[in-house]
Amino acid sequence: MRLVVWKNEDEVAEAAAKLLSLSLQKRPSLVLGLAAGRTPLKLYQRLVHLYQKGKIDLSRATFFGLDEFWGLAADHPLSFAHYFEENLFGLLRINRSKVFLLDGKAKDIESHCHWYEKMIAACGGLDIQLLGIGLNGHIGFNEPGSSFTSRTRLVRLTAETIASQKPSFHQLGMKPPQLALTMGIATILKAKNILLLATGKTKATIIRRALEGPITPDVPASCLQGHPSVYIFLDEASSRGLTRKDFFQKGKNSNLETFEWPGE
Ligand code: GLP
Repeated sequence: MRLVVWKNEDEVAEAAAKLLSLSLQKRPSLVLGLAAGRTPLKLYQRLVHLYQKGKIDLSRATFFGLDEFWGLAADHPLSFAHYFEENLFGLLRINRSKVFLLDGKAKDIESHCHWYEKMIAACGGLDIQLLGIGLNGHIGFNEPGSSFTSRTRLVRLTAETIASQKPSFHQLGMKPPQLALTMGIATILKAKNILLLATGKTKATIIRRALEGPITPDVPASCLQGHPSVYIFLDEASSRGLTRKDFFQKGKNSNLETFEWPGE
């Protein structure tokens, strides 16, 4: 695990964008798993900016979404499909036939999830899976208690996660969804490389539990401790709870040019 602490969320986004653009240079047909949420927004803005300046080309890349609210159509303003459209896909040139998203309105859930797993495998597996982390340690919508052998499936959200979604759904006069589709923990762990981003002081406690605590389904993100190729980019605020300071590198000392994803 390579843990790098950057000064603030702008630096985290900058570094993540650099890592992804270096990866795209090496492998233009990158298979990229994308996360929604607040955390990667600035990263997506930077990728769009790099695209506008002609510095990156995503036209040969393949994309897989990490999760989706159950019951929301792709054009619902709070669906993750809509989020990706608004923040990324609609703003740069991509190959639409290489975009795979979980469908919150899928008729046959089981076969939809099975199809998703099959498509990931058919594309050669995920080269890089981008992750955020929930306040309870969830990755994707794998809530505490999720099995480390879980695959893409429909899950029940915890009261805490539902509550965190309340404000945005209330604005539209809706109750937040109780269920979601998500890649499983085993699906995520099968990615060749993982890049987890966390920013802000509210994430400090869960980051410590995920990275320094025991590996346990109680903290789903702790499973990443066992993955052979993980980059964790934090800002100072989210890294405050970490006690083993020798285990991480300050961003300013980290030379991303020298970085190699294993398996290349
Ligand atoms: C959400 C999503 C995740 C996301 C995480 C963190 O509920 N299921 O895909 O990574 O929780 O979200 P945020 O970045 O908004 O803190």
